[in-house]
Amino acid sequence: MVHRLVGPGIIIVLLLAGLSLAIAQNVKPIQFPPPQTEIGKPLMQALKLRQSSRNFDTRPLPMQELSNLLWSADGINRPESGKRTAPTAKNWQEVDVYVVLPEGVYVYDAAVHSLNPVVTGDFREATGSQVFVKNAPLNLVYVSDYGRMPMSSDEEKGLYGATDAAFIAQNVYLYCASQGLAVVVRGGINRTALAKLMKLRDDQKIILAQTVGYPK
Ligand SMILES: Cc1cc2nc3c(=O)[nH]c(=O)nc-3n(C[C@H](O)[C@H](O)[C@H](O)COP(=O)(O)O)c2cc1C
Repeated sequence: MVHRLVGPGIIIVLLLAGLSLAIAQNVKPIQFPPPQTEIGKPLMQALKLRQSSRNFDTRPLPMQELSNLLWSADGINRPESGKRTAPTAKNWQEVDVYVVLPEGVYVYDAAVHSLNPVVTGDFREATGSQVFVKNAPLNLVYVSDYGRMPMSSDEEKGLYGATDAAFIAQNVYLYCASQGLAVVVRGGINRTALAKLMKLRDDQKIILAQTVGYPK
C-alpha cells in the first residue's frame, strides 16, 4: 500500500532535498583562532620582498594562516575604538573583504574575527579572468559599500572606496611577503557576474580581487 502511494520518483525527490539541506547546513560560520601578532619579518625586509606572483600551489592555507592574513588585511588592531589595520576615509570602514574558498564564499566579520557564509560552492573561477584563480586556495574580493558612505558625492564614493580597498590589498601584500606566500592583486574581474553571484546590492561595488596561496 505504502509502495503504491510513494513511488520511486517521490523517494528520489525527497533524497535530493535531504542532500541539498545537508550541503547547505555544512557551510557554517568559521571562527578564527586569534591572530599571531608577534610573528613576521621586520617591516623593511617585508617591503624588500613585496612582489606580485602568479604561480600558486593548490595546497589549502591552514586556519591559523587565514586568521593571520584576514587580521592583517583589515582586522581590528585597537579594540577600544574598533579601528582597523587599514585606514578608511572618515573611518567609514565601508570595504568588506569577501573570502572565496573552495567550499564557498564568505564575508569577513572583523568585530568577531570570523567568516560568515554568503554562498555555498566553488566560485574561485568567477573571481577573475586568469587561469590561476580557479586553482589557488584563496581569492579575496574587496567590495566597497556605498551605503556606508553618507553625505558624500559619487566622485568621493568612487575615490575613497578604491583607495580604502587598496590599503587592505597592500596589507595583504606585506603579510604575504613576510610569510613567504604568493600573492597578486587583480583588477581583471567580470564585476557584473561576480556581483550577482555574491548577491551584492547595486550600491556595493567590487573594487579589486587578490589571489593568495603557497608559491609553486
Ligand atoms: C589596481 C591594480 C590592478 C591590477 N590588476 C591585475 C590583474 O588583473 N592581473 C594581474 O595579474 N595583475 C594585476 N595587477 C598587478 C600588477 O600587474 C603588478 O603590481 C605590477 O606588474 C607590478 O608588479 P609588482 O606588484 O611585482 O611590483 C594589478 C595591480 C594593481 C595595482
